[in-house]
Amino acid sequence: MAYGEDDPTKRKVVTIPYLKEKKAKGEPITMLTAYDYPMAVIEDNLGIDIILCGDSLGMTVYGYKGTVPVTMDQILAHSGAVKRGAPHSFVIGDMPFMSYQVSAENALINAGRLMKESGVDAVKLEGGAEMVAPIRSLARAGIPIMGHIGLTPQSVSALGGFKAQGRDVEGALKLISDAKTLEEAGCFAILLEAIPPEIGKIITERAKIPIIGIGAGVYTDGQVLVVHDALGFFGGHVAKFVKQYANLNQVISDGLQNYITDVTQRTFPAPEHCYGMDSDILEAIKSKL
Ligand code: KIV
Repeated sequence: MAYGEDDPTKRKVVTIPYLKEKKAKGEPITMLTAYDYPMAVIEDNLGIDIILCGDSLGMTVYGYKGTVPVTMDQILAHSGAVKRGAPHSFVIGDMPFMSYQVSAENALINAGRLMKESGVDAVKLEGGAEMVAPIRSLARAGIPIMGHIGLTPQSVSALGGFKAQGRDVEGALKLISDAKTLEEAGCFAILLEAIPPEIGKIITERAKIPIIGIGAGVYTDGQVLVVHDALGFFGGHVAKFVKQYANLNQVISDGLQNYITDVTQRTFPAPEHCYGMDSDILEAIKSKL
């Protein structure tokens, strides 16, 4: 399937013009994370507009406490699996910590690898005005970039923790100005994380590009959630902005508990799970032992 072409099954292939059209018409854009092929297939079949192979995989897949340890190799492998499972959704690969901050040239090399080796449709990187140089360099090379401002998890140590942003005059004005700067530098969309809805609304109304929110209120052009949070994959604490749509942890635990019980009570495997054998053949085998 070529870029911008709909496939023969008549399913819409999501492109940047389509996302901009949705913003213009006021139609909400749906976005979720995915980190592997099976989840990407499910999301693509449901018609999710954007799938992000986020560096949140550091926590959801690899068990780190944050996103800082995530490597280019991890993002490359997982983004490739996601894109193979999602031919219709617009797939974005997240740029890991230190893959774009060192220099514009280094950012271009790493973003180029992500596009070429995993087949994603765009990349995402965190930061405001200070990221103009790498963003310009990627945009010049034809690499679509989603910006990410507000709570930026790669800077969690500098921010003093996973805290909401833009709640004072200075912080809010910086976010509004950063959003403008990112748009002018060439981002095709911006993700806003953990900011008051009122600031999300101001940024969304002033932007010509789609604004996607996570914990940024209802006025943004679209919403994203980490799929493991949305499905209740882990027990325990989730951020205030998460709505849980399923309790996968319970479903999986119940299923696996049943398996453990079956094995320990020898009720699995049952006859229907076994291969049959002709009794004459069995007797012949036994007679030779
Ligand atoms: O990596 C990630 O999952 C993110 C979320 C904020 C969507 O960037």
